[in-house]
Amino acid sequence: MRHWLSMMDYEPAELAALVARARELKQGGATDALRGRILAMVFFNPSLRTRVSIETAMLRFGGHAICLNVGGDSWNLEHRDSVVMDGERPEHVKEAAPVLSRYCDALAVRTFAGLKNLAEDAADGLIRAFARYATVPVVNMESAMEHPCQGLADWMTIDEKLGGATGRQFVLTWAPQAKAVPMAVPHSAALTAAAARMDVTIAHPPGYELNAAIIDRARSWCAAHGRRFELTHDQMSACSGADVLYVKSWGSSALYGQPEAQMESFRQHASWMVTPRHLTRPTTILMHCLPVRRNVVIADAALDDPRCVVVDQAENRLWAQAAILSRLL
Ligand code: CP
Repeated sequence: MRHWLSMMDYEPAELAALVARARELKQGGATDALRGRILAMVFFNPSLRTRVSIETAMLRFGGHAICLNVGGDSWNLEHRDSVVMDGERPEHVKEAAPVLSRYCDALAVRTFAGLKNLAEDAADGLIRAFARYATVPVVNMESAMEHPCQGLADWMTIDEKLGGATGRQFVLTWAPQAKAVPMAVPHSAALTAAAARMDVTIAHPPGYELNAAIIDRARSWCAAHGRRFELTHDQMSACSGADVLYVKSWGSSALYGQPEAQMESFRQHASWMVTPRHLTRPTTILMHCLPVRRNVVIADAALDDPRCVVVDQAENRLWAQAAILSRLL
């Protein structure tokens, strides 16, 4: 049984096949791909796109989805081993995951980084506990470390907009924020671009290094495909010649768990907000996973530019997730 936890659990060729499958489904193929299948979606954090696009994918292809909001309409869940559960979490994943597995054909879990302890977040303990105790496939709807559903939808969008990803110039640029945010999306963006055989540049201020294991994997996929992989602190020169400008804020690895210092750092780097001058070519596409804070992360004029493809990205979540679920099930 395979899960969909990390892009690193799949070969680039398998990921490319999933993108091809997503495009086939979008074009009207296999309308019964999920017939009779039931998915439990377990949310520890809020969502707009993920919640609706996965439920829609299940319904559109003949299945059904049940949504649980942990701590809202469902019990708070513990996942650590050997803890005395005398606090706010009355149920353990060790029971919850196998119970849900008896009812449903797959589980999908959203669990953001805690943003207090970098090593704990890097271990991705909560979603890995679900995978350990479930007896059906588990889908990552964004965990502390990765957002692989977003990555696959992004790859599909690049293919559609540029007529193929191979050899294109992919630039991931850091942007400021109004509060500390996780690294899952930039991790998946880096892996996606490397798996899709693009030349990859990642621009961020000093102190905003991404996870070393993810960067190593992206670098090695680029090397295996004969593509360039580069890290830089120079945003404007990184943007020059980009076919894809992917914008995302993330918190500083050096200021992890220090919200006030983090906010001060965001203020110091306010000039990293993306504007139309960062779109250096008439054909550059501007990408962001959404939600996006206008005029903090990206300026109105860039988000409202015809080169901005964020709504297409969001739509493709539906088709990408249908492809993932039909593959797992
Ligand atoms: N991009 C994304 O995952 O959006 P939501 O947080 O709204 O699900």
